[in-house]
Amino acid sequence: MPEKRFTGQVAIVTGAARGIGEAIATRFVAEGAKVLLVDLLRDVADTATRLGQKSLVCDVVARGAGETIAQAALAAFGRIDILVNNAGIGGSKRLADSDDALIERLIDTNLSAVLRVTREISPHLPRPGGRIVNVSSTFGLAGYPGTTAYAVAKAGVAQFTRQLAGELGPDGIRVNAVAPGVIQTPMTIAHRENPFYMRVVVEPIPLERMGEPADVAGPVAFLASDDAAFVTGVVLPVDGGYLAARHGKL
Ligand SMILES: NC(=O)c1ccc[n+]([C@@H]2O[C@H](COP(=O)([O-])OP(=O)(O)OC[C@H]3O[C@@H](n4cnc5c(N)ncnc54)[C@H](O)[C@@H]3O)[C@@H](O)[C@H]2O)c1
Repeated sequence: MPEKRFTGQVAIVTGAARGIGEAIATRFVAEGAKVLLVDLLRDVADTATRLGQKSLVCDVVARGAGETIAQAALAAFGRIDILVNNAGIGGSKRLADSDDALIERLIDTNLSAVLRVTREISPHLPRPGGRIVNVSSTFGLAGYPGTTAYAVAKAGVAQFTRQLAGELGPDGIRVNAVAPGVIQTPMTIAHRENPFYMRVVVEPIPLERMGEPADVAGPVAFLASDDAAFVTGVVLPVDGGYLAARHGKL
């Protein structure tokens, strides 16, 4: 059982029905937080019940979603200390094969919704003391062909993190991000059948394995905790060393 760094605190985690979001919510609960789990999927209610927490079925893309989420968290727990923008979708293609609807869906869900939700929830965070953690991707930090709109959105999330750290730092709100590499979740399950993906993205990982959702939850908890009290504007790769050393295994 990890040290309880979040006793008495309230966290919102978007995209928390499963995968990385579920693991982040689980970690916060293990460390004493109360959590509002938000997701499009109705399964989020079961995930929340399992964790003894509250849930909200909500599409983060919908206009006003951030205020709806904030009001649900305040009604359930009376305060909001931490926002984790984790909800996201894959399904990206090379640009030549991306129609307008796909580009719009990927940018809106993975980037624009993060800006809008954060704009609406951040006024409810304590000043000083609020914390925001965004979920970017290694695909947003280095080029990987065939994932263009997704990668551009995730690069936007990384830059948004730096921008907002500057804007909210004077209010005592820290803003950081994780950039996961290959993590085994429902989002990536189909990729494992793709030989190009396995050869280019999985085999070069220096730690010689794919990540688990809990591998991301630990760094998110660190960034949200007082252990990172002087850390803001950082985009932390959680990738088994892929970005650092993917070109050379002896
Ligand atoms: N799995 C990986 O290898 C990997 C790598 C880098 C980044 N990421 C990012 O991590 C985050 C979590 O991904 P995951 O792998 O757990 O995927 P996942 O598909 O297992 O989980 C994503 C969750 O977000 C929810 N969601 C999607 N769109 C939503 C919306 N509009 N409103 C509310 N909820 C919505 C889904 O219903 C789902 O429960 C995503 O932002 C993803 O881009 C994942």
